[in-house]
Parts: sequence; structure tokens; C-alpha cells
Amino acid sequence: MAQPKIYPSNDSSPASDFGLSPTEFTTLRTASTQAKALAYCPYSRFRVGAALLTSTDEVIEGANVENASYPVGTCAERVALGKAVIEGHTEGFRAVGVSTDISPPASPCGMCRQFMREFVPLKCPIFMFDKDGNYVVLKLEQLLPLSFGPDQLPQPGELGAQGAGL
Ligand code: THU
Repeated sequence: MAQPKIYPSNDSSPASDFGLSPTEFTTLRTASTQAKALAYCPYSRFRVGAALLTSTDEVIEGANVENASYPVGTCAERVALGKAVIEGHTEGFRAVGVSTDISPPASPCGMCRQFMREFVPLKCPIFMFDKDGNYVVLKLEQLLPLSFGPDQLPQPGELGAQGAGL
């Protein structure tokens, strides 16, 4: 796959393709960048900040939280989304921002992509910021093609995909 375009930090024009104003874009970048300072990452020393723009235009932040038992740690994206969900935001997210201290930008890990798939619209932009605020933007459906989500499961009382009431 061709490498996605990296936009310079002073170019907010792609935001309008996703219905975001320049101010909303800047707010998302500032929030995800500042959230890196909240990371608890003594083991990897790799800070990740995340920010979600909700359907009601609130900004919810998260950062990675690690654990001495390494696999138990949680990524910034899932911390932010978990916070959002328990605050009542389960759908209609307008944008996601993820910020790291490296360049080029890092994309959300596979587990976080699937975690987002549960709540974040497939057309939602994921802005990935590098250490200098330069960024790549991709829709969730581009990060997770042919994805599996709640709609693929039978509703309670419905037959499963095998056609049997297993
Ligand atoms: N990390 C995130 O927070 N988000 C990602 O999408 C990838 C990785 C964190 C997990 C761990 O705390 C650190 O980065 C190094 O893997």
C-alpha cells in the first residue's frame, strides 16, 4: 500500500474534508499532544496521548497506562475511549487524535483499531500526530478494512450466521 501523505503542522486544510473547523482541528491536536504528559509509561518510556471529539463537541483525553506485568498495560486510545463510554459517549464521535514523540507518526495498534470499531464511526477521521505536530489522517475504515463489528453478530433471539440457533 502507498504510504499515506504526511501533512505539515501548519496545514489544517484536510480537517474540513471531515467537517472539522480549523479551531476544532487545533483543539484536537493540542489535547492529544498535551495528554502525552499524562502517560504512565515507566517501562517503555514511549508516551502516547489520545483525544476524542465527541458528538456533543467535548474533548476527552487519554494516555497509555503501563503495568509491571507488561501485557496488562493499556494504550492511550482505549483509555480515552473507556472514559468517553462511561461518560455516556458511545457513538457519533467526530474525530480521534493520537500523538507520539516520534516521526513519522505512529498509527493505533491493532487492538485499539478493533476497540474503536465498537464505538467510532467507520468514516471518522483518525489524526496521527508526530513529535512536531505534522500528521497523517485516515478514516477508521482505512485502518481496519473489512472490519468486524456489532452488526456482524446476531441480535438477541436471531439465528446465528450458521442459520442454526446454536
Ligand atoms: N501504545 C499506545 O498507547 N497506543 C498505540 O496505539 C500503540 C502503543 C502504547 C502502549 C505502550 O504503553 C507503549 O505505547 C509502547 O508500546
